[in-house]
Amino acid sequence: MTDQELVRLAQETLERAYAPYSGFRVAAVLETSSGAVFTGVNVENASYGLSCCAERSAVFAAVAAGERALEKMAIVSDQRTPVRPCGACLQVLWEFGPDLVLLLAAPGGVVERRRVRDLLPEGFVFPKRPEG
Ligand code: THU
Repeated sequence: MTDQELVRLAQETLERAYAPYSGFRVAAVLETSSGAVFTGVNVENASYGLSCCAERSAVFAAVAAGERALEKMAIVSDQRTPVRPCGACLQVLWEFGPDLVLLLAAPGGVVERRRVRDLLPEGFVFPKRPEG
């Protein structure tokens, strides 16, 4: 999909965000190398810490469908300024592809185009277990 198409789909998906506690709706639309598209929204909970961001919701849907080659993700919110993924989401995105392109959008369209590695140059890598 084009950048604009991905952003538009993310904007259409925003209404499915479940954010009654923060009132801050976020949607992420992720395209994988096969051309498959996955949507994610933030899903909050009365026990606040259980809430999940839109970006991770989209990645988990892709991985559960057998898609790990993440190519492009549009992220939108209902605010005027673009959203940057939080640190936890950057770590999850980094696991599947530091070169994933992020389209950070505001109502007027794409505001910033960044790769995951621009925002998180070095993520956590699980240390090798000693042999034996
Ligand atoms: N949130 C996201 O979904 N993505 C982000 O990149 C930043 C924050 C959500 C989590 C929570 O539901 C709300 O926004 C306020 O933090």
